[in-house]
Amino acid sequence: MYQTANQEDVHRMADREKIVVLGGDGFCGWPTALRLSSEGHEVVIVDNLSRRKIDIELGCESLTPIQPIDRRIRTWQTLTGKTLEFHNLNIAEEYPALVQLIETVRPKAIVHFAEQRAAPYSMKSPRHKRYTVDNNINGTHNVLCAIVESGVDVHLVHLGTMGVYGYGTAGLSIPEGYLTVKVEVDGTDRAIEIPYPPHPGSIYHMTKTLDALLFYYYNKNDDVRVTDLHQGVVWGTNTEETLLHADLVNRFDWEGDYGTVLNRFLVQAAVGHPLTIYGSGGQTRAFIHLRDTVRCISLAIQHPPARKQRVKIFNQATETHRVRTLAELVAELTGADIRHYVNPRNEASDNELVIHNKQFLELGLNPITLSEGLLQEVIEVAGRYRERVDAAKILADSRWRADIPLDREGTPAVQP
Ligand SMILES: NC(=O)c1ccc[n+]([C@@H]2O[C@H](COP(=O)([O-])OP(=O)(O)OC[C@H]3O[C@@H](n4cnc5c(N)ncnc54)[C@H](O)[C@@H]3O)[C@@H](O)[C@H]2O)c1
Repeated sequence: MYQTANQEDVHRMADREKIVVLGGDGFCGWPTALRLSSEGHEVVIVDNLSRRKIDIELGCESLTPIQPIDRRIRTWQTLTGKTLEFHNLNIAEEYPALVQLIETVRPKAIVHFAEQRAAPYSMKSPRHKRYTVDNNINGTHNVLCAIVESGVDVHLVHLGTMGVYGYGTAGLSIPEGYLTVKVEVDGTDRAIEIPYPPHPGSIYHMTKTLDALLFYYYNKNDDVRVTDLHQGVVWGTNTEETLLHADLVNRFDWEGDYGTVLNRFLVQAAVGHPLTIYGSGGQTRAFIHLRDTVRCISLAIQHPPARKQRVKIFNQATETHRVRTLAELVAELTGADIRHYVNPRNEASDNELVIHNKQFLELGLNPITLSEGLLQEVIEVAGRYRERVDAAKILADSRWRADIPLDREGTPAVQP
């Protein structure tokens, strides 16, 4: 018997419309694509596989043996009966194809992960700086321009970084994107909200602050609906979906350029390398577990901004830690030594970092914290694949300025 859909059904159906995942072969994109697919969305992955090519350029590979994208997709379909569509497309260069894709798919949301995301890689050489800017800025601009040209009312969910705020906060807790400031008008104080002043610490972070300006403009001029997720450093490696089969395993970056700090420490411990602290280790950073990343993106899609609402900004991070505290924790868990190196970055040696993240908590996020046992899972993965680690690639060989000293091997010198 035919029944009309009640309000709940209508919402459920709308929630299951098509979603495009740009950068869906990457570390955050692949588990997100699987989660959205398992939630019942029709997922279209777009990726030019540039991250796999950068592995070849750097002479290393994911700690975990990731499968080619077509095999990943085949296995997912066999296990779940759900299809994933894949397009090998460079969003920074193939604009007409991107417009055509949006016009054909007519997605409810586009999740945008497709950028060069390693700060050290972006600082390696003039070529790497220019590649990062060309790729990230053109890619983001093409997506916005294509959404407007297509005429489709898409909700764009972008992965930004907590690094856009810089790491000196003048003692305040970093708000979610907008800062209330007092200005004096005709002798009277008035409070106004402005976008938080950008303070990038690398070429990569600079591209993310420029992305934010592109969002601001297209939202103001064309009413494009945007959520910008200012994400902390991601740790962990697997989600419920990537654990379903060995072919679905997620990538795990461990070397000096792409490895994120906690994951790097855990791999260093697994291969018997001292934990590499650059500088004092007093740098404080914001963190999030990969499983919370995936959950936050799903929540952001379920709670889109209204038409004509300003860019919605979330701080997608669940806790903050000093680098040396993390090293001490890993050393305690694994028995590893700690070694300090000259910092190749041009940054403050110590900083405080207090952040607001209440929007995701109010939407129901129940954060995974370091204390919750998932470190053991990463330690187990690091141990299982330690033979795949090339010790020569553990130290970063990028530096922020030519006058920062390196040792004879071209890597950061051990601090006396
Ligand atoms: N990993 C983290 O700790 C972290 C932290 C904060 C923010 N982020 C942000 O999240 C996003 C995803 O990060 P990730 O760790 O998954 O990175 P990743 O490098 O693993 O994934 C990015 C994917 O995008 C693809 N890509 C890059 N440029 C492209 C282009 N022009 N056209 C099509 N595909 C392209 C790559 O091939 C790769 O598969 C990035 O924008 C990053 O800035 C990541």
